[in-house]
Amino acid sequence: MTITGVLTLGLGTLLVIEQAITPGAMIVATFIQARALAPSMQVVALWQQAMTARAARRRLCEFLATAPAEKQGMALPAPEGALAVENLIQAVPGTDTVVLPGVSFALPPGESLAVIGPSAAGKSSLERTLLGIWPPCAGAVRLHGADMARTPRDQVGQHLGYLPQDVELFEGTVAENIARLGSVDSEKVVGAAKDAGLHDLILHLPKGYDTPLGPGGRGLSPGQRQRIGLAHALYGAPRLVVLDEPNSNLDSDGEAALATALGSLREAGVTTVIITHRANILAAVEKILLLCAGAVEAFGRRDEILPRLTRPAQPSRRAL
Ligand SMILES: Nc1ncnc2c1ncn2[C@@H]1O[C@H](COP(=O)(O)OP(=O)(O)OP(=O)(O)O)[C@@H](O)[C@H]1O
Ligand SMILES: [Mg+2]
Repeated sequence: MTITGVLTLGLGTLLVIEQAITPGAMIVATFIQARALAPSMQVVALWQQAMTARAARRRLCEFLATAPAEKQGMALPAPEGALAVENLIQAVPGTDTVVLPGVSFALPPGESLAVIGPSAAGKSSLERTLLGIWPPCAGAVRLHGADMARTPRDQVGQHLGYLPQDVELFEGTVAENIARLGSVDSEKVVGAAKDAGLHDLILHLPKGYDTPLGPGGRGLSPGQRQRIGLAHALYGAPRLVVLDEPNSNLDSDGEAALATALGSLREAGVTTVIITHRANILAAVEKILLLCAGAVEAFGRRDEILPRLTRPAQPSRRAL
């Protein structure tokens, strides 16, 4: 660009001195030269981007080659909900921090379990492992005999219901959030909302089921978010429902709706795991698991475990 600019200007000046062209023609010539070179300059600038994209594509291909796509396994029938946790060892992914040094328990289909324990006991980590979100370091979580870590997510996901401790709603309508951002089946959405005792509350929102939510569920209170998260967990008649502190933001109406939802799950024979710090929800479950520092300190029927936990001198009382 500089060389051609200098050459054009030099040649133009020479021709002006020799009175072969006018000074105006010389200036016009420099403009035309700059315009003529512009496309070449764009190609040079784009070339740099093309090379960067090529290098990024090569890095992506190398990365994807390290984790080849899972082969589609044979489709299994819908699980009944029997949950078996076998010698489960779990570390926080990407770290050496072991949170569950060896957990085993089993839950027959249709039973409900409350997981209790002090903060940082590993309850949410257990829940993430139960759902296959964290692949276990050793041991297995089996739903109806099938290892969750090896079952393709698209096969198992529709049979699972999950309410995380920090409810995550997405940008979209209330109906889309309940329908897990898939295609909205209005009958199933209303069914899930009714099961969660939420139908009337949604109808009172400005646009009912079509009320738009901002990222993270902006526009709703934490309690409303938690209740929509519960409807999201119940959507599509799952066989295993895992609820992590489902009542942490609920008022008395919300608590009553949750108790009704748990009763409906029990009647429908859905296996339910509830992580909780609140003692009142224990009335709705059949079994209790007390987790302390990642280890199972007590597991059994509610009526056997509860008196042991509430005895005054028991150190485990802090779990409640
Ligand atoms: N994503 C993470 N990254 C790093 N450490 C984590 C992560 N998740 C959990 N941990 C660690 O694992 C341990 C257990 O955490 P977890 O969230 O399972 O406890 P919890 O029993 O659910 O506690 P709470 O009752 O407060 O919810 C904690 O020491 C925590 O610091
Ligand atoms: Mg937790």
